Amino acid sequence: MPKKSDSTSDRKREHIELCLTDQVAFKNKTTGFEYYDFEHNAITEVDIRKIDFTTQFFKKKISYPFLISCMTGGTPEAGSINAELAVAAQKLNIPIGVGSQRQALENDKYLDTYKIIRKNAPTVPVLGNLGAAELVKLKILDKVSYLVDIINADAMIIHVNSLQELLQPEGEPNFKGLLKKLNMLTKKLKVPVIVKEVGSGISKRAVQKLLDNGVQGIDVAGAGGTSWAGVEILRSTNSKGDEFWDWGLPTAFCIKQIAPLKEYHEFVLIGSGGINSAFDAAKALALGADVAASARIILQTLDKGGVEGVISLVTGWFKTIKKIMFLTGSNNLYEFRHKNNLIHKSELY
Ligand SMILES: Cc1cc2nc3c(=O)[nH]c(=O)nc-3n(C[C@H](O)[C@H](O)[C@H](O)COP(=O)(O)O)c2cc1C
Repeated sequence: MPKKSDSTSDRKREHIELCLTDQVAFKNKTTGFEYYDFEHNAITEVDIRKIDFTTQFFKKKISYPFLISCMTGGTPEAGSINAELAVAAQKLNIPIGVGSQRQALENDKYLDTYKIIRKNAPTVPVLGNLGAAELVKLKILDKVSYLVDIINADAMIIHVNSLQELLQPEGEPNFKGLLKKLNMLTKKLKVPVIVKEVGSGISKRAVQKLLDNGVQGIDVAGAGGTSWAGVEILRSTNSKGDEFWDWGLPTAFCIKQIAPLKEYHEFVLIGSGGINSAFDAAKALALGADVAASARIILQTLDKGGVEGVISLVTGWFKTIKKIMFLTGSNNLYEFRHKNNLIHKSELY
């Protein structure tokens, strides 16, 4: 068990160590994807060889509707992890998020652990990252522009991690003024702002407010995958907060609620939180996400199989998704998302 730490860098290292294990999964709550089954289309007319996954992600074209979620930076271990994840993202031509850049606001010591991502992934979308608790404290938003510039980010993620701040020994559960700050940030930054949870999900009501304040991307990061309450409980020396281990809105529920808003608003919907298989990713897309994303399983795959392991995980998932699209009669991602390809299991039995 890692020791309690007192610096941002130590905390990042402890997060990595714990996330290499499965102790930090939700205990009694799931993503909800298992409640859905694909509707088999006995009269499919799809030519599987013609299925193309090319997707527009903000201003760039990516090869798969999938992104490597924000994980690390700002600790010595992060340098090699980010270097390798970036190589995988570049080879796959998919977006990649950096871990919280809070450390880069403290000093320059670990700047290279962030910069390496852009160095090794020169052309794919790279997403910056900062926590809401930090954002609300900032008096000068130029500091966020600086974080964008460090990695030449294509978009900036603000992560809303209220539960984690609540349970983290050094947490700062004060998000007063968040929407106003986000509104100012969306006007100030030269790149789009994405708001992302870290495992508790985002409701439709919250998304409506975020869109009204200029946010252009939503990453639901719902419940059922990595429990950040779990991570913080395991990090702390006592087990306070155990009743919040499974707190949050399941990923499938969030995507299903939010996707219909795309009819009226232009924004990118990222489906994440417990996407641990090809079927999870396929269901996230079929429920209406523009892209699916994963964090912990990518870290674990990198640890076991290196860059090639990550590449074969993602390409393997999308080979399976092609088969699912063929069997559901979906010629392309648009049809896969819009043809009601999922049946709730309560209708089946
Ligand atoms: C080691 C690790 C570190 C993380 N650090 C960050 C972070 O700095 N910023 C952030 O927005 N999310 C962070 N996350 C959260 C993930 O991006 C993701 O939202 C969450 O883990 C749920 O996805 P999963 O179930 O696929 O792991 C981290 C996740 C892991 C595994």
